[in-house]
Formats: sequence, structure tokens, C-alpha cells
Amino acid sequence: MRTPLVAGNWKMHKTPSEARVWFNEFLDELGPMPEGAEAAILPSFPLLPVAAEELAGSGVFFGAQDVSAHDWGAYTGEVSAYQVADLGAKYAIVGHSERRKYWKEASSLVAEKAKRALEAGLVPIVCVGEELEVRERGEAIPFVVDQLKASLEGVRPERPEGLVVAYEPVWAIGTGKTATAGDAEAMAEAIRSVLAELFGPEFAEEVRVLYGGSIKPENFAEILAGPNVDGGLVGGASLKVDSFLSLVKTALNR
Ligand code: PGA
Repeated sequence: MRTPLVAGNWKMHKTPSEARVWFNEFLDELGPMPEGAEAAILPSFPLLPVAAEELAGSGVFFGAQDVSAHDWGAYTGEVSAYQVADLGAKYAIVGHSERRKYWKEASSLVAEKAKRALEAGLVPIVCVGEELEVRERGEAIPFVVDQLKASLEGVRPERPEGLVVAYEPVWAIGTGKTATAGDAEAMAEAIRSVLAELFGPEFAEEVRVLYGGSIKPENFAEILAGPNVDGGLVGGASLKVDSFLSLVKTALNR
């Protein structure tokens, strides 16, 4: 059984002190994290020690929004997956469309980052997704299939729980536009077929595939109803305690 995951991608928001307030409020309102779903927050690097401190023992996980493709060395400005893992993080996003777009990250680099995350003991959340014109041409599925294969080139998770794939159509991120539940499910199914091809059907059956792109409390239940959609990667709606909590509750009621 795949446990649904609600992962909050805070992007470049909040100071460490604002993060501390958020974690305290969230944990107060959540109480002990119930079984049946997983929640994780992915804040920017300087906030990770705060996440480690505040979330310790809460059952809520945390992770980074990116890691370096290198393990260690003279790479000014980079952050090693080992540094992130040492703080007690569980996850690392790799290949987010904002990194692909603004920093021209290619899928081959994304695969290297996923490998470093795995070597350090982190679970990579590998992001894929098409631009609007690709969807309008009717080529979304083949595009994402190729992008995913390239982003997982040489990536060998030991366990299915050690990998998460997030389908985030670029045109739905931060725009208020969401993929239909049907489109999200169709893509998640295609992603699972790629995983079956790469790692075998039994392994693929246990890998979590998330949807991301303008998830809100109002649309999450419908998206989660797709049998291949195992949760959400959430930007805007993860910044407020109430909306993130409501998403976690939706996942718990799935
Ligand atoms: P959004 O962002 O929920 O604000 O659309 C999602 C993401 O980029 O992960």
C-alpha cells in the first residue's frame, strides 16, 4: 500500500524565525501525526536546521528543494545531499521546473542529483512536467515519459519507498490552473508504466507518484481520487498553516 504524501514546497519564502512560528502552529493544530498519510515540508536551506529542531519527534518530515550533483568539493554555493541528510532530512526535490527553467537544469543533471540524494540516504522527489504548448499539441504523455526516463538514467533506488516522482505540469504551477483529475491520473499511470519498465512492475506498484500545480484545499480530494495519484507537491497552499493542514486531512481521509 502506498501511503499518500503531502509535501509542501515553500520555495524562497519565510525567514528562519517565521518558519519556527509556522512549525509550532502547525504541530499545535495537527496534534500527533495520525497514521495513514505522510506530511513533509521542503523549505529553503537556511530553514532546514529549524525544521530539524521543531519537527523532531513529531512524525512530520522535512527535506530540501534541491541538492548538488556533486557529493563534496570546491563548488561554491552548492549544498551537498550529505549535509542535508545529516540534519535528519528525509526528502530532496530534484528537477523542479523552476530549476529546469531558470537554471537550465537538464534531465541528465537531475539524474545526477537524484543519485547523490540516494547515496546520502535521502528520498529524491524527481519532478517532471510539460509546458503548455506541449500539452496543446497533444504530446504531454510522450514528453513526460522521455523526460522521466532521462531524469532517472542510472538512478537505482534500493526500495520503492526510496523514490518519489512528482508530475507538475509547468503551466499549472503558481497559475491557479490545475490539470483535470483525469489528466493527472492519466499521467500518473503513464509514469507508473515507465517505472515498471525501469524497475519491474512490483517495484513500480509501490513508488509514490504525486501531482503538483495549484493544489488547493478545494481541488485536492478530486485529484487524489485517481488511483495512481499518491499525494501532492504543494507550493502556494503550503505557506499557510490552515490550508496545508486541510490538505493533510484530505490525504488522511482518502
Ligand atoms: P503551486 O506550486 O502549488 O504554487 O502551483 C507547486 C510546485 O511548484 O511545487
